[in-house]
Amino acid sequence: MALRVSFVPHRIPAFPASQLRSHRVSMASTLHSPSAEVGNVRKPFSPPREVHVQVTHSMPPEKQEIFNSLHDWAEENILVLLKDVEKCWQPSDFLPNPSSPGFHDQVKELRERSMELPEDYFVVLVGDMITEEALPTYQTMINTLDAVRDETGASLTPWAIWTRAWTAEENRHGDLLNKYLYLSGRVDMKQIEKTIQYLIGSGMDPRTENNPYLGFIYTSFQERATFISHGNTARLAKDHGDYKLAQICGTIAADEKRHETAYTKIVEKLFEIDPDDTVLSLADMMRKKISMPAHLMYDGKDDNLFEHFSAVAQRLGVYTAKDYADILEFLVARWEVEKLTGLSSEGRKAQDYVCGLPPRIRRLEERAQARAKKRSAIPFSWIYGGKIMI
Ligand SMILES: [Fe+2]
Ligand SMILES: [Fe+2]
Repeated sequence: MALRVSFVPHRIPAFPASQLRSHRVSMASTLHSPSAEVGNVRKPFSPPREVHVQVTHSMPPEKQEIFNSLHDWAEENILVLLKDVEKCWQPSDFLPNPSSPGFHDQVKELRERSMELPEDYFVVLVGDMITEEALPTYQTMINTLDAVRDETGASLTPWAIWTRAWTAEENRHGDLLNKYLYLSGRVDMKQIEKTIQYLIGSGMDPRTENNPYLGFIYTSFQERATFISHGNTARLAKDHGDYKLAQICGTIAADEKRHETAYTKIVEKLFEIDPDDTVLSLADMMRKKISMPAHLMYDGKDDNLFEHFSAVAQRLGVYTAKDYADILEFLVARWEVEKLTGLSSEGRKAQDYVCGLPPRIRRLEERAQARAKKRSAIPFSWIYGGKIMI
């Protein structure tokens, strides 16, 4: 696959280097200038910047034809996975009805139920909600992809129709969690809202290179990660007796599962048409590591907020390093990567690499856990500075 490398000019970082170093993605090429914080005075607004030397448009232009030739296929196989708006759930289906006389009692009940949930659970739920609320970034990311982007904002290609409708479905997730958290009274909404604003302003760095092969592998991985994460917050809410919240998280998880089905089907089709480049793309994304969508999270206070949130999610079992390895193993089996034949020697190497990766990730993780430092308590602004063990 021909790669065109373009170098990103140095820009003033929005966040201190310590925060950037905490990201799961490799920071080897992180560019840092201390000029944003002269004498500890942060500029009122410092533009964010890309955190890697970026590769752009790595899919050769002739491959665009593959995606153009799949329009009928996408209509028959992908658009059918969208749900009719009239049949979709809406956030108001799960929340107290503000025009009902029982509204105040319903809010009181919601707040009483939420009192059963521990603070560390709220930290994870807030992090999940913030991740959902940065949806403008994800639609932007998908529209960076060559051959499938929405060229006009109202394009009628099945790729563009999918992306807009997917965004519209996703939009309900952050909306519902946000309203639940607001009504619960358990969290500092102003701090959460600031975090969302910072995060959308920062964007994300998935390293998908405008390349739909890489982009759809990334979204396949992420939809499954969110399916697992919301499924686990549902399970924990149930364990703590908040059945309504369990229903909220479970309903969102079901959407993520349907989205996973769509994106994994697209990649399955790419494996069928172009196995060599698809397995190379999978190996490429795994070497770079799949960065989490909210990896640039910041609340104006904690330079390692994403790392701290992830540590709590790991401790509660909502999303763990083991899940990362399990997702890869699932996708490798789903796409029958082991059974691919007729690959180039590079393709065979990539095949061996991805098929052997899940047990390697698990072993590395076990060693990292064994070396892990002593646990410490970290304050989270989202819960009014309450300290949580990580
Ligand atoms: Fe979502
Ligand atoms: Fe989703």
